[in-house]
Amino acid sequence: MSRDYKCGIDLSKLHLESVNFLDTTLRDGEQTPGASLNPEKKLRIAKRLDELGIQIIEAGSAIASEGEIKTIRLIMKEKLNAEILSFARALKRDINAALKSDAQGVHLVVSTSPSHLKYKLKKTEEQVLQMAIDTTQYAKDHGLIVELSAEDATRSDLNFVKKVFAAGIDAGADRICPCDTVGILTPERSYSFHHEISSTFNIPVSAHCHNDFGMGVANSIAALMGGAKEVHATINGLGERAGNASLEEIVMTLISLYDVQLPIKTQLFYNTSRLVSRLTGISVQPNKAIIGDNAFTHEAGIHTHGVLASPLTYEPFPPELVGIHRRLSTGKLSGTHGIKAFLEDLDLKPTADQLEEIFRRIKAIGDRGKVITDVELYTVAEMVMGLPKVYPVKLEELTVMAGNKITPTASVRITMDDKLLTEAAVGIGPVDAAINAINKAVAQATNIHLDDYSVKAITGGTNAVVEVIVKLKKGNIILSSKGVHGDIVMASVEAMLNGMNVLMAGAIRNKKSSK
Ligand code: KIV
Ligand code: ZN
Repeated sequence: MSRDYKCGIDLSKLHLESVNFLDTTLRDGEQTPGASLNPEKKLRIAKRLDELGIQIIEAGSAIASEGEIKTIRLIMKEKLNAEILSFARALKRDINAALKSDAQGVHLVVSTSPSHLKYKLKKTEEQVLQMAIDTTQYAKDHGLIVELSAEDATRSDLNFVKKVFAAGIDAGADRICPCDTVGILTPERSYSFHHEISSTFNIPVSAHCHNDFGMGVANSIAALMGGAKEVHATINGLGERAGNASLEEIVMTLISLYDVQLPIKTQLFYNTSRLVSRLTGISVQPNKAIIGDNAFTHEAGIHTHGVLASPLTYEPFPPELVGIHRRLSTGKLSGTHGIKAFLEDLDLKPTADQLEEIFRRIKAIGDRGKVITDVELYTVAEMVMGLPKVYPVKLEELTVMAGNKITPTASVRITMDDKLLTEAAVGIGPVDAAINAINKAVAQATNIHLDDYSVKAITGGTNAVVEVIVKLKKGNIILSSKGVHGDIVMASVEAMLNGMNVLMAGAIRNKKSSK
């Protein structure tokens, strides 16, 4: 069955044949409140963006610190395919810092709106115009690529924005970008605005859309339809305030809904998203489009039934396209089909009567307002089916060391299917060290990986009881598991072991029954 989203529209008129991406996760994205990246982390992200196929990376702002200069230099040494830019204000010292960082070019930014001129720059239009000309010329004289941006362009006098761009182009600017700094465009206005700028100048125009009204992606797409040739975006939509337009959302919209061919390795999106999330410390909301944990998780019975018959019924495109595995989640809204498929993946085959009983108990738990994890569902099924519990994975010993001047370290002894596994590992904190040690030990015997980790305090105060939920992955199966304890390390370990026991149980039972 084909996926036709054209709804009768002739897409060939939409002028979306070539689109370039400028990823600004490392500059605008790092401006997300609470995010901070060291040079090594930035290098890892830049390499991944390059692997994705991103054409231009804004790697940071050289003038901001020596660390930023070091970062851009590190990235430049990798000789990536992507063009590497440093952010620069229209000041010679910013350009000098960019030169010191060895960046190939500058994202040169000058404010154009009345409020920015009056309150931020305290300069007249003539002075700002001259700054744009002088710094563009200076950057070009020093061999830099110049993408000239007008900050707050959408709240500026359009004639003044055009004047700045015209003068910048005369001074040698390679590309121009009228920024929607506080996200006030709507798709119709974005179309007209970018059409107006694109048809006035004959160099490539970019779109830089923020998400203050939740329209960053829609406005970016409309800008491309209006004639823009490049879009600025960030992984996970990170950025100042409500963030920038999300790269993965724009790319998948263009590919899936507008049939645009893009040289982007979309299969890397999920891993890239989680890499950025881990390194910035900013988690991804579960219902985030394209790469959120729930983006391809089906819960309601009617949906799981449909998806099991054909994934087309409730999915806009196959999750593998963005590196995700489909998940059928189990809760009070699940139908018997979803529960049956889930249990069969774990080698449990209840009879029709048993399945009805499992289903009835799951609904009763859900009606009491409880969220049920996959491990709890599995336990209910074992009880209904009269199966004895098996615990192939047992924690024999765990030692964790953490403190002011020591690297958090954990050592662990685990028996798995009667084999003793011993390992040690370090981590960012004691929980990380303990989980790393368990992962290393278990990796000696099986291929289970931690896919997601979340924590909440059930009670308040310093003696709070902590609930940890993990998602573990084994092949195509992803399973949620819970641990509850007064100690966060033990709650995490319990969640891991509970999940591992269920993932291993089927194989152990099969082994026993074949003896
Ligand atoms: O949103 C914006 O206007 C910016 C500029 C500084 C380029 O990020
Ligand atoms: Zn911005």
